[in-house]
Amino acid sequence: MRKNIVAGNWKMNMDYTSGVSLFSEISNILSNIVTGDQEVIVCPPYIHLNSLAQLAKVNNRISIGAQNCHQAESGAFTGEISAPMIKSMGVEYVILGHSERRQYFGEDNFLLAQKVDTALKNYLRPIFCIGETLEQRNGNIHFQVIKQQLEEGVFHLPKDDFAHIILAYEPVWAIGTGLTATPEQAQEVHAFIRKEVETKYGSTIANNLTILYGGSCNPKNAKELFSQPDIDGGLIGGASLKARDFVDIIKAF
Ligand code: 13P
Repeated sequence: MRKNIVAGNWKMNMDYTSGVSLFSEISNILSNIVTGDQEVIVCPPYIHLNSLAQLAKVNNRISIGAQNCHQAESGAFTGEISAPMIKSMGVEYVILGHSERRQYFGEDNFLLAQKVDTALKNYLRPIFCIGETLEQRNGNIHFQVIKQQLEEGVFHLPKDDFAHIILAYEPVWAIGTGLTATPEQAQEVHAFIRKEVETKYGSTIANNLTILYGGSCNPKNAKELFSQPDIDGGLIGGASLKARDFVDIIKAF
């Protein structure tokens, strides 16, 4: 059956010392409480990957993910980080297609499809983000936009490869705005995504697929969101920077 996951996306926050303390605090609280078998992933900036991957080996409740990787495996790409480099630190996941990468760094579905391929080739599991802008939702084209993101970003994959993908529905209008999608709005899109996956890859793959919700998720709204049948956890931004809030979201299952 599919896995429930809570992943924290720290974005461009936390200097070296603060990152290690935040991780240690999360790790300490988690080891002192009983939660279910949901998986916990922390996705810090690159500078933290190595040390947190080491710490994560001690607390095996937490896995580590990167926030991006380059589409090439190596080469003359000054300032970039590759999937093999990320994997070499013991990191298991990589966020790809986050709306901030799409918006501020011009990443489109075709580039993202290449990144997905490179990540999978290097045994990193992509957390592939999709979601519509406010304008697209108001124009009532959100299902169309999401379908296209799926088709161009991940539906080129053979079934065995797609089975390693985690999807995250992040409506752009809900990210960092305090405006959460209602549980019904989120559920409607998650069910649509699962249906599209079922049409493409069949019901076993669709039923086993983890689909996370992201966008102003916090300890207050997490329980209701996670209780929806097609919402299998969250990709958490702001609230993942406070250990207590992050753990309370994990406990919301
Ligand atoms: P917030 O939780 O801060 O809205 O961010 C969500 C997000 O973008 C996670 O990737």
